[in-house]
Amino acid sequence: MSILRSQVVGCGSYLPARIVTNAELAARVDTSDEWIVQRTGIRQRHVAADDEPTSVVGLKAAQAAIADAGIDPSEIDLIIVATATPDHTFPATATQIQAALGITGGAAFDLQAVCSGFVFALATADKFLTTGGARAALVIGAETFSRILDWEDRATCVLFGDGAGAVVLKAAPGEGTLADRGILTTHIRSDGRHKDKLYVDGGAGSTKTVGFLRMEGKEVFRHAVTNLAETVRHTFEQTGLSGADIDWFVPHQANRRIIDATADKLGISHDHVVVTVDRHGNTSAASIPLALAEAHADGRIKRGQLVLIEAMGGGFTWGSALIRW
Ligand SMILES: CC(C)(COP(=O)(O)OP(=O)(O)OC[C@H]1O[C@@H](n2cnc3c(N)ncnc32)[C@H](O)[C@@H]1OP(=O)(O)O)[C@@H](O)C(=O)NCCC(=O)NCCS
Repeated sequence: MSILRSQVVGCGSYLPARIVTNAELAARVDTSDEWIVQRTGIRQRHVAADDEPTSVVGLKAAQAAIADAGIDPSEIDLIIVATATPDHTFPATATQIQAALGITGGAAFDLQAVCSGFVFALATADKFLTTGGARAALVIGAETFSRILDWEDRATCVLFGDGAGAVVLKAAPGEGTLADRGILTTHIRSDGRHKDKLYVDGGAGSTKTVGFLRMEGKEVFRHAVTNLAETVRHTFEQTGLSGADIDWFVPHQANRRIIDATADKLGISHDHVVVTVDRHGNTSAASIPLALAEAHADGRIKRGQLVLIEAMGGGFTWGSALIRW
């Protein structure tokens, strides 16, 4: 059966130049490099300059992805930016990136699912592309979490970083089998009962401030491992695949221990896992496309290989997608 598939035709990323090491944080709050590395695997993170809002960080990733795809930006008729740190309450960061790219056709909007944002945005773009609603989509995960961190709170400020990653997707014919190139499955979930475990304590509609990130770390950890394994099991049930079939597992990069525990639960060997959390920290919606771009650029992820992505974030939200690269 001939169907439409969303194929990844380009991938790129951007990291701000400034690197903040664990040692630098240890000079500001009561923590240590040893504690951070042992609990999270994080050694450093990038922090955006004052003149680098999310739209600028996201634009640079988008430009890299478009260059990698070798297409003209005017071909893109859908832009989705997954972000929890937009430049402004409105307009959407996506429309600012659209304008900076010189694109005047199609639609551009932001999507808010915190750390799961890229998976949700990819699933949304896939629906447009495979139903003829768009022909080429730019899906960006872009964040400046440094702006919403309480730099006095050692339990959260050591965990996050800034950056952006992007993919260009194009609708292309497929046979409707797992051998097709493109997005093969997506699963997204939410459960709003867990709001208080991971949230920002401000907002335009409540406090009229931006607020700071607050988290019950242990609770988030527990739910993350359970929910991530559940969403991937759906993928395996639907496709008949197992962990051994996955060429590259590219999880949301929040914590090395969560990544390892999830890979172990799913039977995915650690040498098939792309890890960037040591150098990037948790960049929320940007973490998966940053990791994809790194492994795509260095030749680990090759055309035709099976790539599994998954994420979990505030809300809670969680989800996964299986892509034949
Ligand atoms: C945050 C996290 C690393 C903490 O690790 P943990 O093993 O759960 O540690 P706890 O929260 O039990 O804290 C243990 C102690 O370390 C302390 N601590 C917290 N942050 C610290 C830091 N940066 N440096 C030193 N000590 C710290 C705590 O105050 C606590 O001290 P206490 O026992 O005297 O009260 C871990 O819970 C985690 O990664 N959770 C998931 C976070 C996440 O991924 N969020 C994003 C999801 S998208």
